Amino acid sequence: LIENPLFFCMPSRVVLAPGARTRIAPLCQAQSWKHALLVTDAYFNCQTSVISTMVQALRDVGIAATVYDGCLPDPSTTLCDEATRLLAKPAGLAFDHVIAVGGGSNMDLAKALCLTLREQRPVIEFVGANRWPCKPLPMVAVPTTAGTGSEITPGAILIVPGSTTKVAVMGNDLRPLMAIIDPELTLSCPPKVTADAGLDALTHAIESWLTLDSAQFDTGNDPDPGYSGRNRVTKLLARESVALCFQHLAQAYDKPGDLEARTGMAYASLLAAMSYGSSGLNAVHGIAYALAGLTHASHGSTNAVLLPYVMDALIEERTQELGEIAVLAGAPGGGDAIELARQAPVRVRELVRRLGIACNLADFGVESSQIPLLIEDALAVSRLTKAFPKASPASAYGVIVRNAYSATLSGDRD
Ligand SMILES: NC(=O)c1ccc[n+]([C@@H]2O[C@H](COP(=O)([O-])OP(=O)(O)OC[C@H]3O[C@@H](n4cnc5c(N)ncnc54)[C@H](O)[C@@H]3O)[C@@H](O)[C@H]2O)c1
Repeated sequence: LIENPLFFCMPSRVVLAPGARTRIAPLCQAQSWKHALLVTDAYFNCQTSVISTMVQALRDVGIAATVYDGCLPDPSTTLCDEATRLLAKPAGLAFDHVIAVGGGSNMDLAKALCLTLREQRPVIEFVGANRWPCKPLPMVAVPTTAGTGSEITPGAILIVPGSTTKVAVMGNDLRPLMAIIDPELTLSCPPKVTADAGLDALTHAIESWLTLDSAQFDTGNDPDPGYSGRNRVTKLLARESVALCFQHLAQAYDKPGDLEARTGMAYASLLAAMSYGSSGLNAVHGIAYALAGLTHASHGSTNAVLLPYVMDALIEERTQELGEIAVLAGAPGGGDAIELARQAPVRVRELVRRLGIACNLADFGVESSQIPLLIEDALAVSRLTKAFPKASPASAYGVIVRNAYSATLSGDRD
């Protein structure tokens, strides 16, 4: 109990319930806010009534609302800077909070805007620092996918045009003040979006469950670290999230209108984010960022294709946890511990395949000649590399990428 200290950070309010979106206006009113900036994309603003209903509800309680619907998947630093300029323009408009409606992309752009609208500086200047001259605007996060957990976490992930990996603007003050999670908003997710986001949640749960212990985590002596390694609380949350993913993800994919499955995945995503939002992540995300730089494939799919091979690399270090994951995935328990652990990546790969995502890097479109660059770019994401619980991450990343290319899992040989 005393070995792995706990450092846990969360939004101050988390609401999860079908219909929870109706609570946004009264909660904002209770903060005495006067002017909301709603950050979303054209789909929600123009093809659904979600935003117009929200704007009306805010106006009904005396809160003015300005809508920005220019979000795009995987937002770039350029998009953020353009939005900052656009929103800074109208004289006299002073937003006192931001409401983000959408998937991880919209929430991340909104988080970055919480900072840049205050500071009026290019967002790239905030990468790598977690202290800013003034506090970001308070944010209400309203996720419409079940997966990224950005409504809980301290980071905004952005693409830098021309660069091969993503960058993060990170700090505990960037965590949303409120996370309002309404599973009804995910009912319209097409199967591909459901699969990508759901496997992102499963990756968060498994990666944070297997990551470095907090006692070994290097926070660089930061008194207020965003991520600080796994501990009893994060492991508890991760285990529950893995169970929920295996229970509900395939059903949400097969039957998009199943509110029970959508609510199960909303909880799975939340619990996974509560886990990794304090423990942090490692090799799956590190290599996935490099893979996204190479292929421009979606975040969830780049995680999903790599996850089984990263798990397989940790059979020795995380035998007991992987055995539990295998059982949660439906394997009969008992027997040899190593053999049971090897079933976990095999079963995760079966789920990835069932959800229509390529299960190896060759099928994902990677050329064998790109493997060295992929490994080099992945290792360069040092904040993630250093949290991988292997003695030599450099050689481990090499093995993982080559196994992921050739579709090799140790459990296949049984
Ligand atoms: N900040 C973090 O902690 C964090 C964590 C994980 C991922 N991310 C980032 O999140 C992004 C991925 O987010 P995502 O998987 O949620 O997808 P997304 O936000 O990129 O959305 C993908 C597509 O799905 C559509 N969509 C979203 N919700 C919908 C709904 N309910 N109905 C119909 N269409 C819907 C969007 O309009 C978009 O076209 C990546 O950029 C990734 O880097 C951030």
